[in-house]
Amino acid sequence: MSKKHSPATTVIGIDIGGTGIKGGIVDLETGTVLGERFRIPTPTPSTPQAVAKVVKAVVDELSTRSNAPSDDAPVGITFPAIISHGVARSAANVDESWIDADVDEIFTKEIGRDVQVMNDADAAGLAEARYGAGQGVKGTVLVITLGTGIGSAFIYDGKLVPNVELGHLELDGFDAETKASASARERDELSWDEYAVRLQRYFSHVEFLFSPELFIIGGGISKRSEDYLPQLKLRTKIITAELKNNAGIVGGALQAAVHFKLTK
Ligand code: BGC
Repeated sequence: MSKKHSPATTVIGIDIGGTGIKGGIVDLETGTVLGERFRIPTPTPSTPQAVAKVVKAVVDELSTRSNAPSDDAPVGITFPAIISHGVARSAANVDESWIDADVDEIFTKEIGRDVQVMNDADAAGLAEARYGAGQGVKGTVLVITLGTGIGSAFIYDGKLVPNVELGHLELDGFDAETKASASARERDELSWDEYAVRLQRYFSHVEFLFSPELFIIGGGISKRSEDYLPQLKLRTKIITAELKNNAGIVGGALQAAVHFKLTK
């Protein structure tokens, strides 16, 4: 399905994560979520059918609101995996059966509306570049999301280079996200100082590889930055995401709006 859509100022964005599926109505002018977000825990197992049903439930709830876009307007959806032409090519923190699944087609069918699917960290990066901490920054900006896994978005002069998977750098013999994600901190019951040591190792390595102008930290624990940011010693400026937990929802909605030409 892909019909011509009318211009819009709001778009529904859905952010699929390892623990929750969150949605909101996004104002494309300001890059803000209007009203409350709506969240349902990610089903276990997180198979395509189960996740698609929850995504539909989130879209249905948002669609009942007075400021919702029209019922046939496209929806932007973020997914925690490599997304190439709408197809998942990895599945680190979701059910393995997603690998090679046509995510775009699965959600389009379930919701009955056009959708645009992208990697979750890419969406967060896009939102920060357009509306948040990365606005107007020239050169390389790396947005690193610390959550169930580690996600990354590579932005150059405000443009996204999609599907850069820096959470899976192999570092000291480990997949980096298994040591430095927010969930690794909880699993290993680390103090913030102990966690900062792992973040230092990770960010020093990424800095050495890419020499970015700016690091932006996203994900749930960007809220707790005073507990670990002051400990990090890097050449690169490192700040937290301005859109906080809404970055994925906003970036997903923005990408859908651009793709379906609802906005510039
Ligand atoms: C996945 C990425 C995703 C990140 C954050 C990683 O495990 O490989 O695609 O962006 O988690 O959800």
